[in-house]
Amino acid sequence: MTQDQLKQAAAEAAIDYVEGGIIGVGTGSTVNHFIDALAKIKGRIEGAVSSSEASTKRMKAHGIQVYDLNSAGPLSLYVDGADETTRHLHLIKGGGGALTREKIVAAASERFICIADESKLVDILGEFPLPVEVIPMARSYVARELVKLGGTPIWRENYVTDNGNLILDVRGMRIMEPAKLEQQINNIAGVVTNGIFALRPADELILGTPSGPKQIKP
Ligand code: 5RP
Repeated sequence: MTQDQLKQAAAEAAIDYVEGGIIGVGTGSTVNHFIDALAKIKGRIEGAVSSSEASTKRMKAHGIQVYDLNSAGPLSLYVDGADETTRHLHLIKGGGGALTREKIVAAASERFICIADESKLVDILGEFPLPVEVIPMARSYVARELVKLGGTPIWRENYVTDNGNLILDVRGMRIMEPAKLEQQINNIAGVVTNGIFALRPADELILGTPSGPKQIKP
């Protein structure tokens, strides 16, 4: 099976978790499969809150109603992918640049189901460069602070987030204490948020494997 087929199988398995109401929807190629599957059962839900302009566009094209988080209230379910996940369901996200809105929608949701192919499962986070969203004027200052934390930040050039900000991708981080580092980086002035999801981890992981989707709980 290809990596994309594994993503699709994990995404389709997440449809079983959809019970109705307004659900949170993440961003990325795995989530795109979820949106396509959601379209087939769209009559079962009221609509969705989106974590990116890209997912909003895809859902609208399928005729799925997209709500603003401010008018939707607390969400019962959020479905999103990840760039890396541990067995504790601590994640690195933001490869697609949507980390801030993803973190907001995850925080506002009662249950966060992460969907991923098996290549995303790691023992220690940090092989994937950690995305950090920064206010443009703070880029160089934040980069210097990230070097002090042991990382090598690289500016994602020619890229602007949906919020009008920039991304630094930080290499060389072996993340032994994800919640601590998440907090430390968020405390740097000018950081909007970073791609570690440990303070609010996923609640359940659906991992696409050649023998079928596997459910993993921390
Ligand atoms: C986007 C994300 C995605 O969830 C992450 O990059 C995984 O993407 P894909 O499903 O394409 O592998 O965090 O900001």
